[in-house]
Amino acid sequence: MRLDSHFVEILVLDFGSQYTQLIARRLREYGVYTEIVPYFEKLDSIRAKNPKGIILSGGPASVYEEGAYKPDSRVFELGIPVLGICYGMQYIAHFFGGSVVRAEAQEFGKAVLEIAESSVDFGLFKGVKQDSIVWMSHADKVESLPSGFVELAKSGNTHYCAIADFTRQVYALQFHPEVVHSECGGEILKNFAVGICGADTSWNMRNFAESEIIKLREKVLGDSKIIQGVLESNAEGFSKDSKPMQENSKIFDEKCGLQEKSQGSLLNINDRRDFSQLPHLSQNEVSLEKAEFSKVLCAVSGGVDSSVVATLLYRAIGENLIPVFVDTGLLRKGEREAVEAMFRENLKVPLIVADARELFLGRLKGVTDPEKKRKIIGETFIEVFEAEAKKHNTKGEIKFLAQGTLYPDVIESVSVKGPSKTIKSHHNVGGLPEWMKFELIEPLRELFKDEVRALGRELGMPESMLMRHPFPGPGLAIRIMGEVNAADLELLKEADSIFIEELHKWGLYDSVWQAFCVLLNVRSVGVMGDNRTYDNTICVRAVEAMDGMTASFSHLPHAFLESVSNRIINEVAGINRVVYDITSKPPGTIEWE
Ligand code: XMP
Repeated sequence: MRLDSHFVEILVLDFGSQYTQLIARRLREYGVYTEIVPYFEKLDSIRAKNPKGIILSGGPASVYEEGAYKPDSRVFELGIPVLGICYGMQYIAHFFGGSVVRAEAQEFGKAVLEIAESSVDFGLFKGVKQDSIVWMSHADKVESLPSGFVELAKSGNTHYCAIADFTRQVYALQFHPEVVHSECGGEILKNFAVGICGADTSWNMRNFAESEIIKLREKVLGDSKIIQGVLESNAEGFSKDSKPMQENSKIFDEKCGLQEKSQGSLLNINDRRDFSQLPHLSQNEVSLEKAEFSKVLCAVSGGVDSSVVATLLYRAIGENLIPVFVDTGLLRKGEREAVEAMFRENLKVPLIVADARELFLGRLKGVTDPEKKRKIIGETFIEVFEAEAKKHNTKGEIKFLAQGTLYPDVIESVSVKGPSKTIKSHHNVGGLPEWMKFELIEPLRELFKDEVRALGRELGMPESMLMRHPFPGPGLAIRIMGEVNAADLELLKEADSIFIEELHKWGLYDSVWQAFCVLLNVRSVGVMGDNRTYDNTICVRAVEAMDGMTASFSHLPHAFLESVSNRIINEVAGINRVVYDITSKPPGTIEWE
């Protein structure tokens, strides 16, 4: 394993396909560290990354059109294999002198792959069964092959589903191996990366954690002697390949406090002021004075991303991390306690909890406009966060702000299509005062969400926290229609926890993307026993989505909804009616405000 950075094994040049990210995700699942850059990436930059292979992605354009996307063609002279997918294939055929035309019958959907006799169980198709299903999505096709190329597979009447020029080490596929509908697509990508390019398969979250902790330590504490010391003292735990990986990991665990290490040597929350007890920074590696002058501030929401960021940093720099969790009072039932317990018992990170419940409630008194609520909550959050930061910055020690930016946001910001409007800023701590605009630390910049979850698991996060539904920053305030007050918050928390509990009981929690209750503040007449009631209404909302940009309401079983309704009405005094939201997004949004 390399410590300095993650060597790029496979580099994907993005021509704008909606599936490009999947190529990297698929290969990373096989342990091959893959990065995505736009198709116009400079050759020098490609060279500097030193990949073992290049993949040209699909894209919506036609190669024969004016202004069609073209990479620096010297990528074919780097001496490493190149694989083109869909548009990438058409570009290859066109560039090397073949012809690409508009297909008479455009092909979208499933096709059966017929591998040529000579290619069965060989090269790209090693271990790939004959007649497997692949996913096509193209309007153009290669009509004639450039010289030097041969056909590796076809599909029905469509020739050139897979082609190669073995001398030039150039391969191309008309279909999309990266999508799940391509039965053996993962195998084909792996065959290219590992079999043909010789890519390393050691990318996993344990290795990532190990090298990232070293890098963070170097960045924050920033003394090469310290780092050298750490590296040397850890040398037997890393690199040199003198010990099997498992053993390396064990040695590292003892220094960095990853999961499954003996609990006794981890910094306990009560030991917060005793720096000498940090297991992973011995006395001669870091002195307290030096460390004091470079602290990292981190807002923790209890979600996977910020919890993982805080844990990695804590393993790297100990109490030079200032992890702040703001209890707004707008959290779900038991949420603060669950987050505190996770940090204390699983992650062993001493969390700073700022109890601002009364402040938030006071500020929200009499406010009914949704946008005003959001604004007040955002500003109050910053105020509390700032006050907490000030306490730890009496000598100007805080130099960095940690954020949980993920790889899809990074790719998006350099995307072929230009930065997307869909990048979510509300997950970050926006609107900070000038003095708090510290240098950013974003340890998850290279990771996909699934990888962050795997990393969280590696660091000891419990499954219940890893797989939790998303929760909005403004919390329950945007799920109470009208003014937010303590009594309504209690009603909503109770109803919501019943709904979530039932979802777990019925085994439905993981099948929906997000589920919650909304307090409508609409009163209606009911009868309970002999009494007439005139009480509040709870709306139950559950949606299915990929990323929350679009969503459809979940078709939950009626028997399930009935039991949720019964329990809420019987157990939450003040609620006498439950309705189910059957609106999708668009036209609705997921949240009500
Ligand atoms: P909407 O309601 O816009 O929600 O369809 C899409 C996703 O974003 C979440 N959401 C937020 N998350 N701060 C957040 O951190 C916010 O202000 C916010 N508003 C909506 C919402 O829960 C859903 O997952």
